[in-house]
Amino acid sequence: MHHPDRLATPAPPAVHEDAIAADVSHRLEQRIRAEIREQGGLLAFDRFMELALYAPGLGYYVAGARKFGPGGDFVTAPEISPLFGRCLAAQCAEALERLGGGDLLEFGAGSGALAVRILGELESAEALPERYWILEPSPDLQDRQRRFIQEAVPHLARRCDWLSALPEGFRGVLIANEVLDAMPVHRFRIGETSEIHEVFVSEHEGRLAETAAAPRSPGLSAAVTALRTQGLAVDPGYASEINLRLAPWLSALATSVERGLLLLIDYGYPRSAYYQADRVMGTLLCHHRHQAHADPYVHLGLQDITAHVDFTAVAEAGTKAGFTLAGFSTQAHFLIGCGIDRFMMESMESGDPAELALGAKQLMLPTTMGERFKVLGLSQGFDGPWRGFAVRDLSDRL
Ligand SMILES: C[S@@+](CC[C@H](N)C(=O)[O-])C[C@H]1O[C@@H](n2cnc3c(N)ncnc32)[C@H](O)[C@@H]1O
Repeated sequence: MHHPDRLATPAPPAVHEDAIAADVSHRLEQRIRAEIREQGGLLAFDRFMELALYAPGLGYYVAGARKFGPGGDFVTAPEISPLFGRCLAAQCAEALERLGGGDLLEFGAGSGALAVRILGELESAEALPERYWILEPSPDLQDRQRRFIQEAVPHLARRCDWLSALPEGFRGVLIANEVLDAMPVHRFRIGETSEIHEVFVSEHEGRLAETAAAPRSPGLSAAVTALRTQGLAVDPGYASEINLRLAPWLSALATSVERGLLLLIDYGYPRSAYYQADRVMGTLLCHHRHQAHADPYVHLGLQDITAHVDFTAVAEAGTKAGFTLAGFSTQAHFLIGCGIDRFMMESMESGDPAELALGAKQLMLPTTMGERFKVLGLSQGFDGPWRGFAVRDLSDRL
């Protein structure tokens, strides 16, 4: 995500890039339309989102779109400031020390910037992990990560490896920065007589459209009913989304981790705020060339589609899977706990103070990422306290 405001207007892409992008987008649309027809005219939204982001050779994360940084569509914390990676490295070092060594595993490593920063920091602290694993579904991004790591820290590149599935008996720290928001979600709407509708993608007069109809996706009705028993998602016309892939993902992860700390960093809310009555259209957001908007049916394959994270659902699914809730904090409090002020002072000596201050503000201020972004920790097989959650643990708000 997702900070359109900090960057200068990017240069328009060269004409041939536009032509290639238009072709990929067109082919993706044909692929989606074919699947709508196969499904009898109604395609579950989560499947649409999965195709738009991950369809082999065509989806946003899989095809060649630039995605990150000034020439892309959005900018994430590892790209905003080196301080983010330094702080995460401090939390990793504490956990690895307590474990007596171990590995790191990063999910969805984007450009590779966080991996490079964490490895560099841990090398300076003489606390390098045995391996730095990356689990990245996008072959295009895997390629970019390999090249960037090789270029930036060639002497550490041999510690890095790419996984195609979850490892077995993992020991160490697992990090997912802005990965949960990129998971396909289901959408629902409450009807005039309080009935639950699923929102499907359909075709109408030659265009992609939305149709609300009786739920067909397994588990959706039960999940929305569970929200309603908590007094949420009750008003006619209320629409939102729900991540039904989260629980199976965490359950698979719990099986693969023997001893570990999992850090999930993303924008989102506890459930009561996520589904508050006045958030009537949910949290779905698209990012295209540093503009945020809510229409997932334009720029197909050329824009990111995201949903905020229901952190109560993460904590519930995580503990049900066997993890212990290690803490829940705003990004600002987590970074303070990890020592961002000390890193800031140290970095001032070598870096550009104005740039460092700007980056720190982006990461920390409530009006930028400081409060909207949260960090949730889940541990298995060993306990805290954890420095990142020491300043302020908001677990009781979940
Ligand atoms: C918004 S980007 C964030 C990239 C990077 N972590 C950063 O902060 O710049 C989302 C990333 O998650 C990856 N991703 C999506 N689903 C995933 C999954 N189930 N497991 C691992 N990575 C996933 C995408 O391919 C992409 O690299």
